[in-house]
Amino acid sequence: MKFSTRILEVGPNPRKDPALQEASRLLREGMLVAFPTETVYGLGGDAARSEVIDKIFEAKNRPSDNPLIVHLDRAERVQDYCSQTHPSLEILSKTFWPGPLTIVLPANHAVRQTVCRGLKTVALRVPNHEIARELIRQTDAGLAAPSANISGRPSPTTAQHVFQDMNGRIPLILDGGPCLVGIESTVLDLSEELPVILRPGMITQQDLEEVLGFPVLLAQKNEALRRSPGTRYRHYSPNAPVYLLGPSISDEVFQKLVQFLAVKGEVGYLGDRPPGSCIHIQVELDKLAAQLYSGLRDLDTSQACGIIVDGLKEQDTGISVMDRLKKAASHYFESDHEALQFLSSPTSDQE
Ligand code: TXA
Ligand code: MG
Repeated sequence: MKFSTRILEVGPNPRKDPALQEASRLLREGMLVAFPTETVYGLGGDAARSEVIDKIFEAKNRPSDNPLIVHLDRAERVQDYCSQTHPSLEILSKTFWPGPLTIVLPANHAVRQTVCRGLKTVALRVPNHEIARELIRQTDAGLAAPSANISGRPSPTTAQHVFQDMNGRIPLILDGGPCLVGIESTVLDLSEELPVILRPGMITQQDLEEVLGFPVLLAQKNEALRRSPGTRYRHYSPNAPVYLLGPSISDEVFQKLVQFLAVKGEVGYLGDRPPGSCIHIQVELDKLAAQLYSGLRDLDTSQACGIIVDGLKEQDTGISVMDRLKKAASHYFESDHEALQFLSSPTSDQE
């Protein structure tokens, strides 16, 4: 272990908080610090220094061609990183920043040497979290910050989650309590004429279209793969296979699936049905986004042999939750019929 990792709580007044001042000192010295944002915890380092960026990739075990988002304390800083803006930038940044929207623009030469990993574009965001923005301000640098998990694990939504993954790898975690949004920001590509959503999030296609007054595309798989390297990698899949249920699956079929899995061992369940004998994490489905990653982390450590998760309708924010869940799931049943077909001739969990 390289570091003895400390967790320091930040009090109600971040500006004068000694923990935040310590974090900022470490960042100025070229170290990494994990910090809260409204979406998930980030693993921050000075975006201008390539040796610091190398440390981020090493600590996360991140594939080296996957670019990082630069976090800014205010929208005016965008011009320090891009070579060209976009006619929709102003209205989008005025409406959604600070907030869970990341905007991709053509990158300038300096930033291409650090976070862009061979792309000609840079991803920028102003987080809606006072600790994050104050940390950026006091450090006086844009902070490159991917989610503060080991690559392939769920994004962390508490300081304790960060500690599970980063203990010994970084010197400091700032604790600002649980993240309110719970899933990563919407990534919107403004590097070409038509805006394209590369990663869905809390700010939806409809939210963006309402503000812009014209249609915004949601990248099809191929397009996202081409433009956003992060979509290429295997995402979180727990040790136990995840069975994702569409919103129309009946309680009766749910119970049949539980019985089928219970033959092999304990069954984990994330949702709001009567759970029977399952190891159960009760979530109200309208709050699923905020509890999704912590629920999956908890069920994964519970020795369950299978995890059943109730999904959402794929509209509005349900799209972003289902995007994450489909990546974690080994089976997805949209209808009772599909689930019953599986139960009558189960396919391997390893597919
Ligand atoms: O909510 C969030 O966005 C969190 C918090 C910490 O801000 N950060 C986050 O970072 O989720 P990360 O690195 O886990 O995910 C960033 C995603 C990746 O899929 C990456 O490929 C994509 O954004 N990305 C970064 N730069 C890009 C670029 N120039 N063009 C297209 N996609 C980009
Ligand atoms: Mg991530």
